Amino acid sequence: MVSRARLEWETLQSGQPPVIRVGTATCGRSAGAFKTLTALRSAAGNLGLDCRIMEVGCLGLCYAEPVVSIAAAFRPQVLYGWVDESRALEIMEKDLVKGEPVEEYALGTLGRGRVKQIPRLSQTDVFKHQVRRILKRCGMIDPACLSHYLANNGYSGLKKAVDMGWEEIIEAVTASGLRGRGGAGFATGVKWGFCRKAEGEPKYLICNADEGDPGAFMNRSLLEGDPHALIEGMVIAGKGIGASRGFIYCRAEYPLALERLETAIKQARRAGFLGADIMGSGFDFDITIKKGAGAFVCGEETALIASIEGRRGMPRPRPPFPAVSGLWGKPTIINNVETLASVALILQQGAKWYADFGSEKSKGTKTFALVGEVKRPGLVEVPLGITIREMIFDIGGGVRGDKEFKAVQTGGPSGGCIPARLQDTPVDYDSLTAVGSIMGSGGMVVMNTDSCMVDVAKYFLEFTQKESCGGCVPCRLGTKQMLDILEDITEGKGSIEDLDILEELCRAVKGSALCGLGQTAPNPVLSTIRYFKSEYLAHIVEKKCPARVCRALISYFIDPEACAGCGSCIKSCPAGAVSGRKKKVHVIDQSKCIRCGACMEKCPARFHAVQCIPGKIF
Ligand SMILES: Cc1cc2nc3c(=O)[nH]c(=O)nc-3n(C[C@H](O)[C@H](O)[C@H](O)COP(=O)(O)O)c2cc1C
Repeated sequence: MVSRARLEWETLQSGQPPVIRVGTATCGRSAGAFKTLTALRSAAGNLGLDCRIMEVGCLGLCYAEPVVSIAAAFRPQVLYGWVDESRALEIMEKDLVKGEPVEEYALGTLGRGRVKQIPRLSQTDVFKHQVRRILKRCGMIDPACLSHYLANNGYSGLKKAVDMGWEEIIEAVTASGLRGRGGAGFATGVKWGFCRKAEGEPKYLICNADEGDPGAFMNRSLLEGDPHALIEGMVIAGKGIGASRGFIYCRAEYPLALERLETAIKQARRAGFLGADIMGSGFDFDITIKKGAGAFVCGEETALIASIEGRRGMPRPRPPFPAVSGLWGKPTIINNVETLASVALILQQGAKWYADFGSEKSKGTKTFALVGEVKRPGLVEVPLGITIREMIFDIGGGVRGDKEFKAVQTGGPSGGCIPARLQDTPVDYDSLTAVGSIMGSGGMVVMNTDSCMVDVAKYFLEFTQKESCGGCVPCRLGTKQMLDILEDITEGKGSIEDLDILEELCRAVKGSALCGLGQTAPNPVLSTIRYFKSEYLAHIVEKKCPARVCRALISYFIDPEACAGCGSCIKSCPAGAVSGRKKKVHVIDQSKCIRCGACMEKCPARFHAVQCIPGKIF
């Protein structure tokens, strides 16, 4: 089966006939990849071209979607960005019909050989600092094709694992230094050892694919681009911990990931990699998908277990930890998607290979969703220990519009905001914790000076407060009270005592909430107070929002020197707050102004007469 798969892959790679790959993961689809795909298909028909058009997952270049690559004979694959329908036709005619790759739209080449004037993708700024291991196949293989996975080392880790004892499997994972990629960063091998040695049968394995952090899509991309990697990792984990049943808990909001997983599970069963007597070894393991309704708290282990059991997704106190008493009271391991896919890699390539990259206590590579005000947002995979600066500036290209970098939020609602002055902090579990944030599952939101840090804290707290299951008093009432105070501050109703109360509440909720949601909810608030206290003080004492975000603490006014009296602002104001005769200076009545900013938006750029300033004009 493997040699047939390799042959099929080599034919594909040879570019005879040419192969067109279109990224149709969620990011590609939202950028119009299906229109591109349709245009390419009909053009191939019209031109009578003998070529293969293939759908692939995300290559990580979300900023350049839709992306399309063309592999033709005797030259490397050329990857093109921002390929809308008309660009698709142009590229097809020039590259495939005339044999002239279009330098203008090319992002880089993949594979051996050179194409004049087009850089190798691996040498471009986006890729040269990355080490792609988990994401190696994403964007290259057809995720619905088992033979593509097989031809690229797939299931070779499982092949080794079926001949290994459970001790050896756990030893390999421990030796690799792999720590959980879902947030807590606990040593995976150690956790597995607890479960294996725990009393009680059967044992269960759960893959946590709930991924609820705002701005995070690492797990989704992997599932959409390379679903067999998770299945292989799960079967190996099952053998390691002694489980014959596994569950994938994935939110129903991920329909494409679910579809790709369902296809992959069926293929793996048919090929003997899943189900009874795996690869003739006598080991049985099967996987059931459980769709979650998208409640953030269901990502917490004990709530997730309750949800699979058919109960409301509410956490319970730990201990006992799931490794000892989990699903239906039996020893259960819960691991993140990336953790389990890493296990497949460790078995494929060896523990030492895995630990080659990374820092002393954070081994390997990690995927991050680099988003926000960065020039090249997308999915990146980097060796742990790389600095925040390298990620944002070298890989991400710096801050959009060349504005000033202010802070980066890592770890989602459980994490914190790291200020620009700490941008040389290494990205690893312990260094990020030391500066008051966490690595979490890999969300990284870049902010410029237009962000108000009090507003950012409020945004994350609004999220956790809404997502709190309400089961314990500290979280239910504490997050509500904290949010009320933050709202007051952003509305100019805060007092200096509020800051002390806020910090006291943070400590109380952190120390007494039942689960991780409540225990970590104060982190965005604490980190913004720690690093951006002056902004809180400006809101409270001066009644000003320095970043000009909080509506109650800003004003719009018309510069009489610049105003030409064109009337655009009058027409755009929904509150009737602007007045003035044609060709005469206009004015804003501050008592009527609702600070929506429509006047500033509509003021012609050549006048630039409407300005927004921190503070209120009375
Ligand atoms: C509120 C909350 C939400 C969480 N959401 C996720 C999630 O979406 N995915 C995930 O892998 N872990 C999530 N976690 C962490 C898990 O509870 C757990 O630590 C993790 O799945 C363990 O896997 P790992 O050891 O492979 O990291 C969440 C934790 C909390 C408290």
